[in-house]
Amino acid sequence: MLASSALPRRLAAAAPSWSVDTDVVVLGSGAAGLSAALAARPVREVVLVTKDALDAGSTNWAQGGLAAVLDPSDGIENHVRDTIEAGAGLCDEAAVRLLVSEAPTAISYLTRLGASFDQVADEGVALTREGGHSHRRLVHAGGDRSGAEVQRTLDESVRLAGVKVIEQAFALDLEIGRDSKGQRCAVGVRVALLDEAGHVESVGVITARAVVIATGGYGQVYASTSNPPAVTGDGVAMAMRAGVAVSDMEFIQFHPTVLWLGADAIGQQALISEAVRGEGAKLVDARGESVMDGRHRLGDLAARDVVAAEIHKVMARSVGGIDDHVFLDARSIDRFAQRFPTITAACLAAEIDPSRDLIPVAPAAHYACGGVLANLNGATELRGLFVVGEAACTGVHGANRLASNSLTESVVAGTRLGRDLSWSLPERTDYVESVEQPALLDAAWRTELRSAMSKYVGVLRTPQGLRDAAECLERLADKCSSDVAPTRSSFEATNLLTIATAVVASASSRHESRGCHRRTDYVETLESWRRHQSVRDVDGELIVT
Ligand code: SIN
Repeated sequence: MLASSALPRRLAAAAPSWSVDTDVVVLGSGAAGLSAALAARPVREVVLVTKDALDAGSTNWAQGGLAAVLDPSDGIENHVRDTIEAGAGLCDEAAVRLLVSEAPTAISYLTRLGASFDQVADEGVALTREGGHSHRRLVHAGGDRSGAEVQRTLDESVRLAGVKVIEQAFALDLEIGRDSKGQRCAVGVRVALLDEAGHVESVGVITARAVVIATGGYGQVYASTSNPPAVTGDGVAMAMRAGVAVSDMEFIQFHPTVLWLGADAIGQQALISEAVRGEGAKLVDARGESVMDGRHRLGDLAARDVVAAEIHKVMARSVGGIDDHVFLDARSIDRFAQRFPTITAACLAAEIDPSRDLIPVAPAAHYACGGVLANLNGATELRGLFVVGEAACTGVHGANRLASNSLTESVVAGTRLGRDLSWSLPERTDYVESVEQPALLDAAWRTELRSAMSKYVGVLRTPQGLRDAAECLERLADKCSSDVAPTRSSFEATNLLTIATAVVASASSRHESRGCHRRTDYVETLESWRRHQSVRDVDGELIVT
């Protein structure tokens, strides 16, 4: 199926004026990229490139924790079953087993690196629950600062290990060569060094025998998201421009509960962790009726796709005259402020006291289940290119990710890849292809793009909404030009356009509802659709198969 014909093939920027050579270049500085860099470093020269500060991505914001079977009354089979059930028929069981069986080792690895996870006196590590988990198995830190502790630990370890970190450097496009058998392969990356305002200071090329994309997801494709501003799908869009297949792009996970701060609130919204429901909070409508009772056997702790869809139904009915949020009643939780300090601070800033008041919440874009097709060791179809973390689609998450499997996956996959690269690197090659048609989308169009995605491609997708979104994106694709000033904002806007186009194309062609892809015109989950869709850029056109 043809999706678009006018997406830029390359981000427009000045010609390279410098070059650096290394063994491994890692793009992105969340848990996946840092883990890969750290594991490869003992025997390789590693350069890590990040467009912002090291801790500007999603890892630093993760609240709930890391899923791993650590309680003797729990078991690997339970975690495998919960992950597969949440994934709504599209998980790759072998990948899930690998992840789940290595998860406990990932926790002890982080602990040995210096991560301080919350403990219960005389009982060892504290475990909580989130949606879709049949047991308490989430390790957390600082109450709801789990991601920040993982980020701190890995940041320090990477710097101590001697990884060369380049901050404020935007990875533009892959450099593609041919190996001795004539096969296409990634041989490096074109990078723009940015000043504080996001203007380009210079452009260069980092050549490497392994290029690792670990740039995270693309929550900023939506106007309302739990993701920080830096999460714009840069690595996934870059891989697409190089002709590499991406998969499961229609499965955008909407977190059921971000803090609702009014209909006009856009950008990153404060997350109200599912662990709040794991500790006993209940979702209620404006009349105080439970949103989830009788809707699923796990009630308020059903998987995210189920809870987000039920909230959407309550909002559509405009219960009590409120059609854009529901409420979380967390008043029964003892010592809420100590257990959830970040959430408490966000609520208090909005003059809501969770120990006395109901917390207004709504779903928002949270996690990309899809991404560049890769295995759990990061290998992709393009030799020399490896992808780990949220940017990858490894089959672990299927049509809906189980809560807190993502940080665990990032550490497991990143470390597995780093170890592989320590052992062997792809061959070196000198020839580099040139690609034409550089262009950019002006950042001024970003608001229109993100609003259209939130309005038309959210929790529930209508046929007319998908058509309207596709029309909007085609109009924006026509506005791409080589005359647009190259800045961080225009690079990001162009990447968002590529990603959004792939999401809409995939969502339009999946004629069923499954996991976090729900349509009003195809409401059933169909056995004939128990398959993945891939999107590939072929000569500037996106083809969905
Ligand atoms: C949360 O704490 O609710 C989010 C954790 C996750 O996305 O896995």
